[in-house]
Order: sequence, then structure tokens, then C-alpha cells
Amino acid sequence: MKNLLVTGGAGFIGSNFVIYMLDKYPEYNIVVYDKLTYAGNLDNLLEVSDNPHYHFVKGDICDAATVAQAIQQYDIDTIVNFAAETHVDRSIMDPDAFIQTSVYGTYVLLEAAKQFGLERYHQISTDEVYGHIPHGQSSKETDKLDPRSPYAASKASADLMVNAYFVTYGLPVTITRGSNNIGPYQYPEKVVPLFSTNAIDGLPLPVYGDGRQMREYQYVLDHCEAIDLVLHKGVLGEAYNIGTGVEMENMRMVEILLDALDAPRSLIRHVEDRPGHDRRYSLDIAKIRALGWEPRHTAEEAIHQTAQWYQANEWWWRKIKSGEFKAYYQAQYGKRLAESGGQ
Ligand code: NAD
Ligand code: TYD
Repeated sequence: MKNLLVTGGAGFIGSNFVIYMLDKYPEYNIVVYDKLTYAGNLDNLLEVSDNPHYHFVKGDICDAATVAQAIQQYDIDTIVNFAAETHVDRSIMDPDAFIQTSVYGTYVLLEAAKQFGLERYHQISTDEVYGHIPHGQSSKETDKLDPRSPYAASKASADLMVNAYFVTYGLPVTITRGSNNIGPYQYPEKVVPLFSTNAIDGLPLPVYGDGRQMREYQYVLDHCEAIDLVLHKGVLGEAYNIGTGVEMENMRMVEILLDALDAPRSLIRHVEDRPGHDRRYSLDIAKIRALGWEPRHTAEEAIHQTAQWYQANEWWWRKIKSGEFKAYYQAQYGKRLAESGGQ
């Protein structure tokens, strides 16, 4: 493993992974291949832009010719696929791009990996493929996939395709299924950066329903370390869950976030719930632990640190929130907040 094509590398987790890998493996070449959708942002990669081992190609993973060209030009031996449409609420509004990128795009990348005889194809997946998990249970990698949103269904479809290429063609694949990541460079549509930036501006925090849904909030660099471990030590054909193993109610997350920013609880606004909202995700992380990985941050530390990063990095998020985001925010929250008596 020496020359990696990191698809979706200009997004949140992908860019953190690229920065982490260039630092840890100075001899590797990292090529970011990204369509630069609304969520792709070259500001995320500014800190490595002068690194001679970093390269950027603008391209769509659904475009087989451009994918093949990038693989040949940079003598790629490994694909790590982060590229996806990633926001559940947008998948409810318009699922089309989710299916295009995660289903067809993953197929294009798998075909390219087969055609060029790559050493490894690694798929970045999510705990959402398991669906809602009742209290007292946690998802094992061998559990049935039971996705319930268009986003989760598009990701589960990709996992199944990856597995099919392993079984049918012997393609050397691995999959990691991460829980909710938080940290620097997360587009402020996701709950922790949305709530942090709203709180900084004294705006309401739109909590869906009763806010007692449970998520496993993990620090993005812990996730990146685990992906690195699976790339180097993972068993081919296997999936690995990556999380903290500890889930938290959204209301608790909101309290930690508000305290970290010294902002008042009066900003909390309960609004109409998300349709089909999964109440609880919970991962069994024994398998990745057995490879020698432990999360370095608790959810509390991750939320606190993330909220403070947004406080210290207004240069990064203010231009996002003043652009396309405004129309999205109005469509997603305008009516909900008006009905809850908010702004
Ligand atoms: P993100 O939305 O921040 O970034 C996605 C990136 O993919 C963007 O840079 C975008 O431009 C790019 N992209 C989208 N469609 C593309 C296409 N057709 N061709 C090329 N590039 C394209 O997402 P993220 O939060 O960084 O998530 C990255 C991956 O991790 C996704 O596969 C997601 O499903 C998975 N994941 C995310 C989380 C989370 O909490 N954010 C948790 C588990 C798994
Ligand atoms: P999100 O960051 O969208 O991630 P996911 O739905 O993929 O887990 O949401 C995390 C949790 O926060 C989820 O239970 C939905 C909730 N949420 C809100 O209560 N309000 C919001 O405005 C958003 C975006 C999410």
C-alpha cells in the first residue's frame, strides 16, 4: 500500500483521514478524488495543500473514464471510498443523488478496482445500515442489514455490492461501519456543527421530537485511526464496526454542547420529528477492539472539543452558512421553527 485514491476526500471524514494519513505515512501518496458537491470543500484540505505527496482530482465516482484515468496517472494500489451523499434529512427530501453515488458510484469503483487489480478496496459505511436497535441490544457485523432511510438504504446497498465483489471475483475488500462522527470540518447541516454554530449566534437549536433518540458520537480522528488499522491489519472480506460502544441521548449531547459554549438552555426548541427517525443506534465494537484499537475520546470529550473548534474557526463555517445553506435551512426548518414558536 503506497498510492491511495481517497474518494470523497474533500468532505468531513475524508479530509480528516487525508490529513491524518499524510502525517502518519509521509512516504504514501494520497490522491483525493472528489466531485465537490455542496459538501465537498477544499478549505478542509488547506493544511496539506503544499504537501508534494497530496494530489487533487475533481471527478465523479460515477464517471468510469475519469476514475480509470486517475488510477493510471497516479499508479493507485488502494481505493478508500468516502464519497457519498450523507445527510439523512436531504435523503428524505430528494433521494436521487444518494442512489446514484452510493449504488452506481460504488459499482464503478469496484469495477475499476477489479480491472486494475488493486491491492485493496475499502468501503466507508455506517451504523445506520443496521436500522433502529432496541434497548439492551447492540449491532454485530454479522447482523442483518435493516436500513430505514433512503440514505441508510443507499449505504447498505453499497455494502452488499462490495461483499458480492469479494465473493464472486475475489476482490480484496474491507468495510468499516462507523457511528456518528464529530470534529473539525463537518458541514453544518449535521446536528453537532449545526447546533454549535446556531448557539454561537444565539439562534434556536431545533431538536427533533423529544430529543431522546440515541446516537454514538465519536471523535473523527478516532474513526480515522480505526480505518487505518483495518487497512493494514483487517481480514479481507470482513466488516468492522467503529464507535465508542456507548450511546447517548441527543438531549444530553445538547446540554454538553451548550455548556462548552457557555450558551443558555433557553435556545433549545423542540420541533416536528424527522419521518422514520431511528430512535437508537448501538454498535458492538469487540471485533475492532480485538485488532488492537480503542477510542481515545469519550463522547463528552468529543462534543466539548468539537463545539470549541467551531467557536475558534468561524472563518471556516461562516461562508458556508451564508451561501446555499440558507435555502436548505429555510426548507428544512422554516415551518418547523415557526410552528414551535421560534425564528
Ligand atoms: P460529507 O458529506 O462531509 O462528504 C462527502 C464527500 O463526498 C464530499 O466531499 C462530496 O463532494 C463527495 N462526493 C459526493 N458525491 C460524490 C461523487 N458522486 N463523486 C465524488 N465525490 C462525491 O460526508 P462525511 O460525513 O465525511 O462522510 C464520509 C463517508 O463516511 C460517507 O460514505 C458516509 O456515509 C460515511 N459515514 C459518515 C458518518 C458521519 O457521522 N458523518 C458516520 C459513518 C459513516
Ligand atoms: P444527524 O447529525 O443528522 O445524523 P444521523 O441522523 O445520521 O444520525 O443527526 C443526529 C441526531 O440528531 C439524530 O437523532 C437526529 C437529531 N437531529 C436533531 O434533533 N435536530 C437537527 O436539526 C438535526 C440535523 C438532527
